Parts: sequence; structure tokens; C-alpha cells
Amino acid sequence: MSKDNGGRPLIDFVSEGRLNGPDVVPYHADPASYSTAIVGGSHYDNRTSEQRPLLGRSRSRMDSHSDSEHQGNHFDDPEFTGIIHSAEQAIDVGILPERIYQGSSGSYFVKEKEGKKIGVFKPKDEEPYGHLNPKWTKWCHKICCPCCFGRNCLIPNQGYLSEAGASLVDQKLGLNVVPKTKVVRLASDTFNYTAFDRAKARSKKFATERFPDTLGKHVKAGLPPKLGSFQSFVDGYKDAEFHLRKLEVEPLPATTNKDFLFQFQKLVCLDYIIRNTDRGNDNWLIKYEKTPEVDRQVEGEEGTPDWDYVDPPKIYVAAIDNGLAFPFKHPDSWRAYPFHWAWLMQAKEPFVDEISELILPQISDMNFVQDLTEDLYLLFREDKGFDKSLFERQMSVLRGQILNLTQALRDKKSPLQLVQMPVVIVERRKVEAGDRSRSQSHAQFTQSFQHRSPFFSWC
Ligand SMILES: Nc1ncnc2c1ncn2[C@@H]1O[C@H](COP(=O)(O)OP(=O)(O)OP(=O)(O)O)[C@@H](O)[C@H]1O
Ligand SMILES: [Mg+2]
Repeated sequence: MSKDNGGRPLIDFVSEGRLNGPDVVPYHADPASYSTAIVGGSHYDNRTSEQRPLLGRSRSRMDSHSDSEHQGNHFDDPEFTGIIHSAEQAIDVGILPERIYQGSSGSYFVKEKEGKKIGVFKPKDEEPYGHLNPKWTKWCHKICCPCCFGRNCLIPNQGYLSEAGASLVDQKLGLNVVPKTKVVRLASDTFNYTAFDRAKARSKKFATERFPDTLGKHVKAGLPPKLGSFQSFVDGYKDAEFHLRKLEVEPLPATTNKDFLFQFQKLVCLDYIIRNTDRGNDNWLIKYEKTPEVDRQVEGEEGTPDWDYVDPPKIYVAAIDNGLAFPFKHPDSWRAYPFHWAWLMQAKEPFVDEISELILPQISDMNFVQDLTEDLYLLFREDKGFDKSLFERQMSVLRGQILNLTQALRDKKSPLQLVQMPVVIVERRKVEAGDRSRSQSHAQFTQSFQHRSPFFSWC
């Protein structure tokens, strides 16, 4: 990737939240949106936690995130907290999470007491390249030929953050296509633990049962909770592949088709922004709900119903399996990791007005984009392997994707045309003002195009 070649300043902002007067250099492709934005001081600065202000958004978010979310499984969201509590209660009474065998890593269907599935839990240490991945094929890849497998544009073993990050972007943009996903800690006998962890749990159990009044009061028995992503389970959905095949022979009624296009384009926007490298048609789900009237019409063989009088069928899209997104560079090695939806006939339709109305005002506002990257920072920095410079690079890709998407929506392009646009990164650099007396730091954004392409290119 060439950073110098083609690099140009996008815009300058002062950290206090004022535009940097005459130094502003608007980006040629999108001057209007960026030149009106005012960006406040960065929350992901270099200050240590002691130097950070006690009050304010950054601090309070961090507290609620690290202390509550990661350790105690309490969230600002009562509905999600309720789901996690029922999962914990079910585990306590022996309704244990069940491994999803088709997956390439350790993923589990989590149930509530009655055995109904309520979520999908993916522990960090059982991810494809996590040290406790139960699938031996991935272990062989990692050991025998590390350069040929895995995605060299992704930070390894942070899939659980990518899952939660996708949900964050989805919520922030109001797309509502990702089932709510957060970082959670859960323990279950059905998870993959080391022999040492199991032996430790057994001896703790023995000791606490033997001395309930002393050790029992202080030592927490049981297997150690695992950190991972928990996604709420969506009922009645099937793999998109299944429905897409059906749609080829059985087209949808016009209103349902319009709604499907809107939902499909929401998925496209999400994937494009987070640069998902794993959106096959098995990684998104569709729910097709026929109304009873339609069933009766079909059963009675009365021909095609009149949709003016009968409620048309409903269709919903769910974007699952978002663990391989947020690359720190665009794919440039031997695989392109295309968006598989780009081959669908729906991808040739231009972006509909509803999608532009929903997304454009947000992504063309530099404050919104800044806010989004700060929220992602608060989430991603909780990982013990967090690397700030890699995070900055992830956000440079994300900003570049947002820039292209903004342009595509303005030009009424189609998703297919969107993926054919040259990829760009928008880097954020901190520059100190030369004048010592008015020492101010600027956040400068520079855009550059990628010149190196993956070996196997596509469309
Ligand atoms: N939130 C969800 N609601 C309902 N079903 C789900 C959900 N998440 C996953 N599933 C089901 O579980 C299957 C496996 O999920 P997922 O693809 O996320 O797991 P995975 O272990 O990452 O698999 P792989 O690596 O093979 O893609 C999906 O194909 C889908 O049928
Ligand atoms: Mg999958």
C-alpha cells in the first residue's frame, strides 16, 4: 500500500473543536460534507488514565465498559442484561451451551432454562486462531502454513471485538440488521478448557464443599468465565442462500421486494463500512413471513393475491458472523475477500432513497464519524492485545470506506458500482501548530488510494 503516493490532506481541525481557519484543505471529492464539520478533542489520545479527566464521556464510558460489561455482565441495555441473566441461570441449572458443529471455531448456542436458544456465544480463546480452538484443521493451518491461511489484513484473535463492533456500527447508524452483540463473560462445562483449568476447578469445588464456612465464603468455585461475543439469537431465520435460490424462481410481490432491497442495502452499507472480509451468503440470514391471508390464497389456489387488499409477506435480514471485519489495511495479498452479495442481481439496483435518507446525513457528518471511531476505541481498547497504532490503521480503512460510500450514495450508484470504486484510506495525523505561544494540536485527515491489488482480483 502506498501511503505517500497520492496522499493529500483532507481537512484540518483544531483539538478544541474550532475549524482551523484558512488552513482548511477540503477533500476534492467531498468538500461540502467535511468542510462544515467541527471535531472535538480526541478521546483516544496518548494520555495515561491518570491524566484523563475524571468527568466526561470517555471516563464514564470506560468505567461502565470495563468494570460492568466485561466482568459482571451488566449492561446499560436492560433487555440484553435480561438475556444474559437467563443464560447464566440456565447454565446454573445444567442447561449448558451447545457447540455449533458446522462452525470453523468454538461457537455455542446458548439457551434459557426451557431449552430455547437465546444467543450465540463465541469465546475469544476458541476463535479460529485462539489457543483453545476445538477444531484441529485450524490448528494445523496455524502450525504448518501460517502464511497461506488466516487474513493478513486482520488483527488475529480479535474476532469477538469485530462481532461486537459490527453491532455497535449497526446500532449507531440505526440499521438494525445485526442481532445485538456485546462482549460478555460466560463459563460452561461444554466450553473447551485446558486440563489444568478443569483440575483447578475440581480442586476448588472439593475445597469449598469440604470447608463451606471458611473457604466456601471466599473462593469462587467453578470453571473460569470466558471472554467472548454474545449475539442474541434470531428466531425463524434461514441462511440467505436458501431464500435467494427460491427468489430466483419465485419472485417477491412488489412491496415486499422493495422492502427486501432496502434491508439488503442496509447489509451492504454495514459490510462496506466495516470492510467485512467474510460475507458469504451463509453468513447472513433471511426471514420470510407469509401473512395468513397469503397462505389461504395459495392453499385455495386462487391465483396471485391482490396485494392492495392483502397484507404482503414480510421479509427481514440478519447480518450474523461479523468476526472477520475491521481490517487494518485493505486486502492486498493473494485473496481479495470479496463481498459475495455483489454477485447478486439485487446488487445491480441503485441505492434507494430510503437508504440515502437514513445513512447519508450521518456518514457525511465528520462529527458523527469521529464519534463512531471513539465508540469503537472504547470497545476495542479492552482487549489485552490492543495496539493503538493498529487501531488507528483500522479506523483509516473505515473512514476511507465511509468516504466512498458517501460518494456512492450521492451519485446514486449501485452496490456493485460501490465495490468497484478504488479503495481509499483516510489517515488521521496529529500535527502541532508551529506557533509556541498558541500551541495547539490539530487532527489532520489525509486520504490516499491503494495501488497494490490482491493477486486474485474479481469483478
Ligand atoms: N444470531 C443468530 N441467530 C440465529 N442463528 C444463528 C445466529 N448466529 C449464528 N446462527 C446459526 O449458526 C450458524 C453458525 O454461525 P456462525 O456462522 O456465526 O458461526 P461460525 O462458528 O463463525 O461459523 P463459520 O466460521 O463456519 O462461519 C449459522 O449458519 C446460523 O445458522
Ligand atoms: Mg458462518
